[in-house]
Amino acid sequence: MFKAVIFDLDGVITDTAHLHFLAWQSVASEIGIPIDEAFNAGLKGISRMDSLARILRHGGMEEAFSQKEREQLAQAKNALYVESLKGLTRDSLLPGIAQLLTEIRANKVRIGLASVSLNAPTILQALGIASAFDFCADASRIQLSKPHPDIFLAACAGLGVTPEQTIGIEDAQAGIEAINAAGMLSVGIGGELSGAGLTLSSTYELSWPRLSDFWQAMRGQNGHHLRGHNGSAIA
Ligand code: BG6
Ligand code: MG
Repeated sequence: MFKAVIFDLDGVITDTAHLHFLAWQSVASEIGIPIDEAFNAGLKGISRMDSLARILRHGGMEEAFSQKEREQLAQAKNALYVESLKGLTRDSLLPGIAQLLTEIRANKVRIGLASVSLNAPTILQALGIASAFDFCADASRIQLSKPHPDIFLAACAGLGVTPEQTIGIEDAQAGIEAINAAGMLSVGIGGELSGAGLTLSSTYELSWPRLSDFWQAMRGQNGHHLRGHNGSAIA
């Protein structure tokens, strides 16, 4: 059996991915850069300053702002985002998440968080689930955003498990790549993802039986040594 499940936050536990988009869209449009949902998909899992860099590049404005101005733009986005978080309550948990957290705990498997959001502690408090997590990786100490595996490796270390004993759950392409690069098994939420060991269309489909069947297929007696982290057969 796996020893831990490590969750991404935005877009897996609650629908803040959309709130990030609305805040960036507002700041970007003020400097003359239109962004849409399709562009925003590439910002999922990317840190605040790296997201801004991508938006400026998208608008051909990489050189247009000093470091200080960039920090002001990022602060403006964060102020809008934090304001929009005020509506979060326990009802803002995505479908199936509350029950899944309970089931994982009942099976004595550890629970971790690997979000690069500096707002993650505030969000967990607002959702009323901070105590469900045995360890939350500290985004402020992570130099390299997803798709680098660093935040997932930090979560594994904090939980006292190896990546090979762990399942990671993500809604971002960069996040799936980070989980795979860490050597964990990956579960992707949302249809547009590639490379996930298991892809589910929404959190409705996430459940303890689903995760344990996936683990058995990949790392159980029949699956052991037969499949790589993304489900590909190993010769
Ligand atoms: C990730 C989101 O979880 O956190 C990104 O997917 C976001 O969209 C990143 O940019 C950083 O969040 P924050 O709250 O620190 O600006
Ligand atoms: Mg996410």
